[in-house]
Amino acid sequence: MITVFGSLNVDYIFQVPHLPTPGETVLASGMQVLPGGKGANQAVAAARAGAKVCMVGAVGRDGLSEIALAGLLDAGVDTSAVAQSPKPTGTAAINVDAQGENAITVSSGANLDARGDSLDEENLTPRTTLLLQMEVPMTAMADLIQRARKKGSCIVWNLAPMQSVDLALLKQVDCLIVNEGELNQLHSKLHQIPRPNHYSAKDVEQKARDIFTLTGQSVVVTLGVNGTLAVHNNTLLAVPALAISPVDTVGAGDAFTGAFTAALDRGETFPVALRWGNVAGGLACLETGAQSSLPTAAKISEHLAALPGA
Ligand code: RIB
Repeated sequence: MITVFGSLNVDYIFQVPHLPTPGETVLASGMQVLPGGKGANQAVAAARAGAKVCMVGAVGRDGLSEIALAGLLDAGVDTSAVAQSPKPTGTAAINVDAQGENAITVSSGANLDARGDSLDEENLTPRTTLLLQMEVPMTAMADLIQRARKKGSCIVWNLAPMQSVDLALLKQVDCLIVNEGELNQLHSKLHQIPRPNHYSAKDVEQKARDIFTLTGQSVVVTLGVNGTLAVHNNTLLAVPALAISPVDTVGAGDAFTGAFTAALDRGETFPVALRWGNVAGGLACLETGAQSSLPTAAKISEHLAALPGA
């Protein structure tokens, strides 16, 4: 079973011809109000991919909380450990351009009150996978990671959006997931070097290896159309992306992380779990919204053969 500790948001998604530049007003052709938040998106992605999932987080005592919880309830996720906070439910303003690229601004609200204390011990056992992102307070995540470590749970941490994080904490996690930008940020932080503007594919590989060497844990780098690269058991793995024409890339990383973690949780090998993640990430780009297009296990299985290298 998977316990997700993370954010629940309401997403305001605007379809724009291009992402606004500083000082520019852009007219959107449409807008949707949909459930989101990296935590909730990943919980729904894992549940759709076949896992039993429990969500831990916080929403406000307002009308928006119903929207934030809707996708989780629909996917059969246990929401009994989602607390109510006096702060407003978290929201995100998301611009999506004609190529499906996005830019996101989050107002954390109730997510700042998310704590792991309410979590029953039965949801943190040697058979549990704890899945986290970076949209809830670091102190609460550190507490829960330490609790999970003591219980022998497997821990997967998607470092999005990147924040300052202690190396000692990273060493307690079994698998770190980052996109290319987050890889560069994490590498600079851990190695205390300035960030250059441009990186080659070789840099990505080297940086992933460096982080693996420093933390001793598996490192997964999602690279969009270039697929996924990982260092696991000191071995480099590369998995191609599903060939698609994206409509909306919002939540593609969440779809990858949820489906990958669901596959690991049910005992698939690391390379197979990466393929599940890549297929889910690709299929999630075919519709508007972070949760609306998350694929079921049956749909992922159907498309696995279309991924090169089967
Ligand atoms: O990863 C996409 C998510 O980031 C959105 O759903 C938004 O709420 C932000 O948390």
